[in-house]
Amino acid sequence: MLENLTQLPADKILALMAKFKEDPRTDKVDLGVGVYKDASGNTPVMRAVKEAERRILADQTSKSYTGLAGDPAFGQAMRELVLADSVAADRVAAVATPGGTGAIRQALELIKMAAPNATVWLSNPTWPNHPSIIKYLGMKMAEYRYFDEQTRGVDFDGLLADLDGVAEGDVVLLHGCCHNPTGANLTIDQMAQVITKLQERGAVPMVDIAYQGFGDGLEEDAAITRQIASSFDNVLIAASCSKNFGIYRERTGLLMAIGKDAAQQALAQQTLAFLNRQNYSFPPDHGARIVTTILNDPELRADWEAELEETRNGMLGLRAQLAAELKRLTNSDRFDFLADHRGMFSRLGTTPDKVEKLRAEHGIYMVGDSRMNIAGLNAQTVPILAKAIVDAGI
Ligand code: LMR
Repeated sequence: MLENLTQLPADKILALMAKFKEDPRTDKVDLGVGVYKDASGNTPVMRAVKEAERRILADQTSKSYTGLAGDPAFGQAMRELVLADSVAADRVAAVATPGGTGAIRQALELIKMAAPNATVWLSNPTWPNHPSIIKYLGMKMAEYRYFDEQTRGVDFDGLLADLDGVAEGDVVLLHGCCHNPTGANLTIDQMAQVITKLQERGAVPMVDIAYQGFGDGLEEDAAITRQIASSFDNVLIAASCSKNFGIYRERTGLLMAIGKDAAQQALAQQTLAFLNRQNYSFPPDHGARIVTTILNDPELRADWEAELEETRNGMLGLRAQLAAELKRLTNSDRFDFLADHRGMFSRLGTTPDKVEKLRAEHGIYMVGDSRMNIAGLNAQTVPILAKAIVDAGI
């Protein structure tokens, strides 16, 4: 049987991660996988997470199953974090999932059941796992323009023009904040125009929000998701806790399906629980419990928010430093976009051979499409990267 298997294409991001590990150079710089690192290159366990785990260890009296949707308290805490009061609670079905990827996978499975002929529209570019899962599930897929290679901002005219091709009932996947891989984001006003367009087309929005708190702040980063949630009868929202709680390996995410009314909510809730049962039965609990403990305890929550702010401001500082250093070296403002981008990533906007040159000659690792993880830098490596960018003729 197994002889029938064929070699599968490697995930670009994970392959790069392995390549970096193998590189013996001690001055190598990892700007690849989207994992936050502090100035000394560590991915710390956040203070509030440590304390929440200590409390769970001390207080937990059972490891019995929770429910197919996970602990309802997690669903509620996350719904409030992401949606606040933008939509009535009795319209929101929610299930815990293994990470944000699990939420995306379950959302796509739900679409497959509810609208098997729908095309799922993705930004070009998007996180490579989006098209990969859609393809794997055998669903129809289309792209809308997103990134302007010249300005390194959003190609808003191209985006609006391409959304004219959306058919009624199609699903349009949008990034809630901190667009991965570009770092270029829609403004609230632009999103209002996108919403009008999607309403005209009769589309169903799906939001992937994996970096809430990494862009302009926890509330600010949720604004677009809330704007969308309050504008449509049906919306799917995949939220990840991997990055903003720093609990990557705990696989903690939530899928929300907003229904037109409580009856639709009940149907969606039942379907999502069924999908969890088919795929892995009960979702993992430990990370969800950490998140619930933090969000429901004012003191822990304040500490978590403070540390997340430090993280966010650290990345903004690195962006500003890199843009300033490149301005100094090139005597031009063509890299100012690095300071305007938000979130963990920026797409530098160069060719794969120049990305390869940075890797081979300078030990600087970024994804082949020139996506850089800004959090992989520190004050010392910023000037090294800036000089390498100039040396490579970017
Ligand atoms: C990334 O984009 O680097 C992260 O979301 C990690 C991953 O799973 O690809």
